[in-house]
Amino acid sequence: MAFLRNVIVALVTLFCLPFLKAALVTQVIPSTVDIGLTKNLKVECLFSRDKSSPLTFLTSLTLSHSESKIEPDYIDVLSINNFDSQINGEIQNNPNTQVFGAIDNINKSFLGIQWEYPKVDTAGAYRCEAHGINQMGKPVSEFSNASVNAIYPDTKQLVDQLQKLTQHVELLQHAVNATEAKNNKLEKENKQLAELVTQTQEQMNLTTKQLTDLIQRTKTDPNRYINAQNVLFTSSSEFNGSRYLLTKTHGNTNYLFSILTCGLLGGYLAEIDSAEEYNFVRDNLLVGTSYSAVFVSGTDAAQEGVWVHNYSKTNVKYFNWGPSEPNWGQLENCMAYYRSQNWLYVDISCDTLYAFDSSVAFLCEVPQRI
Ligand SMILES: *[C@@H]1O[C@H](CO)[C@@H](O)[C@H](O)[C@H]1NC(C)=O
Ligand SMILES: *[C@@H]1O[C@H](CO)[C@@H](O)[C@H](O)[C@H]1NC(C)=O
Ligand SMILES: *[C@@H]1O[C@H](CO)[C@@H](O)[C@H](O)[C@H]1NC(C)=O
Ligand SMILES: *[C@@H]1O[C@H](CO)[C@@H](O)[C@H](O)[C@H]1NC(C)=O
Ligand SMILES: *[C@@H]1O[C@H](CO)[C@@H](O)[C@H](O)[C@H]1NC(C)=O
Ligand SMILES: *[C@@H]1O[C@H](CO)[C@@H](O)[C@H](O)[C@H]1NC(C)=O
Repeated sequence: MAFLRNVIVALVTLFCLPFLKAALVTQVIPSTVDIGLTKNLKVECLFSRDKSSPLTFLTSLTLSHSESKIEPDYIDVLSINNFDSQINGEIQNNPNTQVFGAIDNINKSFLGIQWEYPKVDTAGAYRCEAHGINQMGKPVSEFSNASVNAIYPDTKQLVDQLQKLTQHVELLQHAVNATEAKNNKLEKENKQLAELVTQTQEQMNLTTKQLTDLIQRTKTDPNRYINAQNVLFTSSSEFNGSRYLLTKTHGNTNYLFSILTCGLLGGYLAEIDSAEEYNFVRDNLLVGTSYSAVFVSGTDAAQEGVWVHNYSKTNVKYFNWGPSEPNWGQLENCMAYYRSQNWLYVDISCDTLYAFDSSVAFLCEVPQRI
């Protein structure tokens, strides 16, 4: 309601003032005050020179107030004069009340008060007086008045206002809660980020260590050695963390030599422990070669029928024997892929390695540590 009244007053001021042609206007905004609810009340004397007005030179403006509107008994509240432009009066500026005024004979002159949360004693009649001289130099005065009504808001109005305030406070609380929730989320995300950074650092430290190890190893493994290895062995790609090296050349050798050779390569006689591993070796290294047998780890020399790996000292878990294999008991204590049986396993004499020739090879497994 207060807002609407302000709008109406503003509209009236905007559209009517030019037509009123009055040189002096007493303006009250708003003209009705809800005590305790209305935030601002402004009472102002406005003087602008007007051709129809005899007052051509303004010397003073005075604002008076009477609590009674019916039989006004005006008391001067403020005045300002052309000589020192000081505002005089009982009312002083304070946080809830402001006075303002200026006399300007070229432009507009004004004198007024603004109250914050006006009290009931601001109601009543207001009168503006403008004193000056006419073109003949004779004294002239103009008067204008307006009134302010004060009403005490009724209970419903107060309740409405209270509800509005409560809603407003709730909205603010929501906003605060939402901000808090957002902050908590951000904090949590920051924490997660910090953890991620630590983890990444740890991984990078690990990788750095591995890289350092690799460089160290490369230093002790000169290219010469790798070249020699490539001359002597066919290497598979990596499978489940290992490469498999199949002998290319042949010469006098034995079982111990094959174990030592695999050890020098950083590995051991291949320990085949799953069908996948068995197939990988067969398909990638053996199929297409002309070897008749390829030795892998596994011997039952210590106890007939109990096959163990020499390097890991574990029992052999995976077998893929050819038809009627193994056979010949203690005469055949080693294991080999066998070409003429479609690369299925046979047991074979470990001594065959003595005659290690173009038809017999062995297979090393070299774990890749990175
Ligand atoms: C007075 O009004 C005139 C015309 O409206 C304007 O050009 C001038 O700047 C004003 N002077 C002052 C001091 O406000
Ligand atoms: C102005 O004063 C006159 C005379 O006292 C009175 O009749 C009139 O109602 C007043 N006007 C306002 C708006 O107070
Ligand atoms: C805001 O959070 C407080 C404490 O967590 C809770 O008591 C209150 O109901 C919340 N207010 C709103 C409007 O969500
Ligand atoms: C990574 O290594 C550096 C230097 O050795 C050490 O200061 C740091 O604490 C390590 N960071 C992590 C997360 O392990
Ligand atoms: C891969 O190696 C791990 C560890 O040595 C072993 O447990 C697993 O069975 C192997 N997988 C295959 C398919 O050989
Ligand atoms: C591994 O092979 C070496 C050389 O033939 C032999 O001395 C050793 O006893 C074997 N170990 C096992 C557990 O077979």
